[in-house]
Amino acid sequence: MAITGCTGMALARGSASAFGCTCAYARMTAAEADFGQDQVYQDMALPTLQTSRLSLRPLSEHNRDDIIDLDSDPQVMKYVHSGHPLTQQEAIQDHQERLLACRQIPGLGYWAGYLDDIFIGWAALSPIQSNSGAFHAQKAELGYRISPRFWRQGYAKEMARELLRYGFEQLGLVEVVGQTMAVNEVSRATMKACGMEHVRTLYVEFEDPIPGSEDGEVEYAITREEWLELQSHLK
Ligand SMILES: CC(C)(COP(=O)(O)OP(=O)(O)OC[C@H]1O[C@@H](n2cnc3c(N)ncnc32)[C@H](O)[C@@H]1OP(=O)(O)O)[C@@H](O)C(=O)NCCC(=O)NCCS
Repeated sequence: MAITGCTGMALARGSASAFGCTCAYARMTAAEADFGQDQVYQDMALPTLQTSRLSLRPLSEHNRDDIIDLDSDPQVMKYVHSGHPLTQQEAIQDHQERLLACRQIPGLGYWAGYLDDIFIGWAALSPIQSNSGAFHAQKAELGYRISPRFWRQGYAKEMARELLRYGFEQLGLVEVVGQTMAVNEVSRATMKACGMEHVRTLYVEFEDPIPGSEDGEVEYAITREEWLELQSHLK
């Protein structure tokens, strides 16, 4: 079952990885991984983050119905998970898995985006897990999913940029990666708008391919050095 944004689709369709895309894991060796599979943090509240328009609050049990609404929308699910809207039961299971993912690596997890007090969607810096099962402490995977009535207003970009800032400045991450279907132009544009660059395209065979799978899965990435360089130009 899928639990991340851009990577859920790959997971749902047979990736060996538990928390993200096959691409991201392939970039990591077992020696790089820092946290054991069984290590779960109990008391690691994620911070609430603020952008100019949005409040990013740690995803919680209270978001269950928000997630059911989001994941039952065919537009939202077109390029993620199995390409179909989720049933209520599937959405609840995914939600629980995301909440569990928030407890794997200190500071990493999922945030619900609020415009005033209205839920607009979520964004994530999710843990990356190697094939051996260990989690990487200094790399994370960016993901996002937004309710269609809030599309095209810059909210995904706003949340993603804040998560990159938080990840590099506050968590000391060394790299953030993201993956999406090559045909998911909007997701690609969002990563690009955050300074992430296309790293490679992978062609994966799926038993039940989503239309467009034949064009492959693209991986984007940005290192801390690249992000710092970008910030210096913005000043
Ligand atoms: C991907 C998604 C989160 C983008 O959300 P959004 O809030 O509409 O995106 P933004 O308004 O912040 O736009 C981000 C970039 O995409 C571009 N974009 C947005 N909608 C677009 C569209 N329909 N066509 C082309 N480009 C588009 C924007 O212009 C912007 O790029 P720019 O800064 O270079 O101009 C949203 O479409 C979504 O939830 N999709 C379904 C779930 C999904 O596919 N998630 C990603 C999985 S990998």
